[in-house]
Amino acid sequence: MNRTTPRSQWASRIGFVLAAAGSAIGLGNIWKFPYITGLNGGGAFVLVYLGCILLVGLPIMMAEFLIGRHGQKDAVGSFASLAGERSPWRMVGWMGVFTSFLLFSFYAVVAGWSFDYIVRSATGAFQGKSADEINAIFGQLVTSPVQVIFWQAVFIVATVGIVVGGVRGGIERWSKILMPLLFLLLLLLFVRGMTSPGARAGLEFMFRPDFSKLTPNALLDALGHSFFTLSLGAGTMITYGSYLDRKADLFTLSLRITILDTLVALLAGLAIFPVVFAAGLEPSSGPGLVFQTIPIVFSALPFGSFLAVLFFLLLAFAALSSSISMLEVSVAYLVDEKGWGRTLATSLMGFFAFVIGIPSALSFNKLAQFTPFFGRTFFDFVDKLVSSYLLPLGGLCVALYAGWFWKADAEKRELTGDGDRAWIYPLWHLLVRFIAPLAVVVILLNQAGLFG
Ligand code: PFF
Repeated sequence: MNRTTPRSQWASRIGFVLAAAGSAIGLGNIWKFPYITGLNGGGAFVLVYLGCILLVGLPIMMAEFLIGRHGQKDAVGSFASLAGERSPWRMVGWMGVFTSFLLFSFYAVVAGWSFDYIVRSATGAFQGKSADEINAIFGQLVTSPVQVIFWQAVFIVATVGIVVGGVRGGIERWSKILMPLLFLLLLLLFVRGMTSPGARAGLEFMFRPDFSKLTPNALLDALGHSFFTLSLGAGTMITYGSYLDRKADLFTLSLRITILDTLVALLAGLAIFPVVFAAGLEPSSGPGLVFQTIPIVFSALPFGSFLAVLFFLLLAFAALSSSISMLEVSVAYLVDEKGWGRTLATSLMGFFAFVIGIPSALSFNKLAQFTPFFGRTFFDFVDKLVSSYLLPLGGLCVALYAGWFWKADAEKRELTGDGDRAWIYPLWHLLVRFIAPLAVVVILLNQAGLFG
């Protein structure tokens, strides 16, 4: 452990779980999971996704926490202190810094939409509107470059504001109130969904697997999303793990975070798909899905405007607690490795993320027809690059390091802190050594068309 730099630690175990769950639970659960499930045909995709979470995501999350906790530094520094100052493994850390930064740039665009929707809901813009009219409102927002960039900037400033002030006081405190609230509201939406005329169709869509819909791309999406939703492969959980103490039981903590994350995603799906089917919308309508369906539910409810404000507020907060973890990766790197001040590092990275994010913001309007990136818009391209390739590759490297190259068996056995569940270590080791790397490699090769 480096004793020359005073290093902050989480105020409490529960604070850590909430911060890490805050990182994991975000747009990925409420915005992305439903729409990629829709695009990939439902049930079979959900099954593969759950398999990836359990067999690949959970063990890799434990590995990231373990690496961070032993390294006691940012993602690059942690690899350096474990594998050596000159070790090529530091590249994995750099890749994490790059990936989380790129992710932040386009994540802020979508998160900005939720800010806009808070204001619209508060002014009653959705009340009494038909599904078509609500659809049109979404179209009108994203096709306005000024509005999208404005909200993107607001979101980035909010993220910078929190990260500058340190994550502990602000985010730990607020997470304790807002995360449970989000959960309650999702439960309400879930009950609403389950009692709506589309309930049966929604349930069938999500849980009746039709394996003929499982294309190589669906497998890749499921794998990539399991990394995305658990914030893996981007240095985030290494960085968060570095603020943990030796005694923490990484298995139990990771399991809790994973269960919370999965529950929120499933609840979001079960809240949204019934509405989609009842309103005759297309489940495969893409990134606009949650923004087009949730206002429909609320517009018909008593106190609908109020509930809609609350929902988008909480969505924005979920996004915020994820984006601070993305920004924290590069800030921790600059502070720990380069000796920068926290304020300078945070503001500068926030500004760069804003600039790099502008083409993403314009991908829904000015640059919608500009698709030189393998036929995709800039937004779709960076999203695909990060979600389907960089995160799984980052996770693969973590698994390979933990499974094959990190020889300190005694240190790795500290996985359960003081816990005595001896069966966990060999099982985890088997998963990070063989199963997780194999799954990532097979799915990537399958996507490249290598299996015909
Ligand atoms: N897990 C976040 C979500 O589901 O929205 C996204 C995310 C955060 C991915 C942080 C990666 C990361 F490092």
